Amino acid sequence: MTLHPTIVFIFGGSGDLTNRKLIPALYNLYLDRFLPEKYTVVGIGRTPISDEDYRNNLLTGVRDFSRRKDQLDVKWTEFAQNVHYQSRDLKDDNSYRGIFEWIEQKGAEWGVVPNVIFYLSVAPQLAPGIATKLHQHKICEDRSAQGSFLKNLSDTICKAHAS
Ligand SMILES: NC(=O)c1ccc[n+]([C@@H]2O[C@H](COP(=O)([O-])OP(=O)(O)OC[C@H]3O[C@@H](n4cnc5c(N)ncnc54)[C@H](OP(=O)(O)O)[C@@H]3O)[C@@H](O)[C@H]2O)c1
Repeated sequence: MTLHPTIVFIFGGSGDLTNRKLIPALYNLYLDRFLPEKYTVVGIGRTPISDEDYRNNLLTGVRDFSRRKDQLDVKWTEFAQNVHYQSRDLKDDNSYRGIFEWIEQKGAEWGVVPNVIFYLSVAPQLAPGIATKLHQHKICEDRSAQGSFLKNLSDTICKAHAS
């Protein structure tokens, strides 16, 4: 089965849960070939971090916390080349404009409307505001011809929080 190209945004990408659980889990999926051929993981936090430093921080997390540390020398490098970090304040509308444009650019590069997953790894009190802004900036709207479960699910959640 061919998996549809997918972008995974981790809101709170500079935080402990990302380092301890989320990236090790995604890396396991990569090792087991459960990620799509075209995927991108984008961590988001306010702290300025370069992609290179971000990947090195995450590698330390995998070394410290993952059950699977096999093939790190080769496979981590492959996996991490599709991992990026963006410094954005999730209370700021400009951040959502940037996210929207970034998704559009990635879709154009891939030649598809990608699935987009938002993982909210932030303090719970930030979640309603984030969902509202995702809805207001039309980031959850399904722009593909066929639709997709994940996008529709995201949109439902965004609308529920925004209403
Ligand atoms: N850590 C765990 O093992 C664990 C386990 C179960 C559940 N959780 C839950 O998971 C969530 C995250 O926990 P955590 O331990 O990872 O917390 P954390 O280490 O404090 O991380 C919080 C993240 O939120 C980001 N953030 C905060 N305000 C932001 C803003 N305005 N704009 C953009 N990013 C912002 C921080 O980035 P910057 O500081 O760079 O902005 C950081 O990346 C919490 O709800 C927690 O209860 C955590």
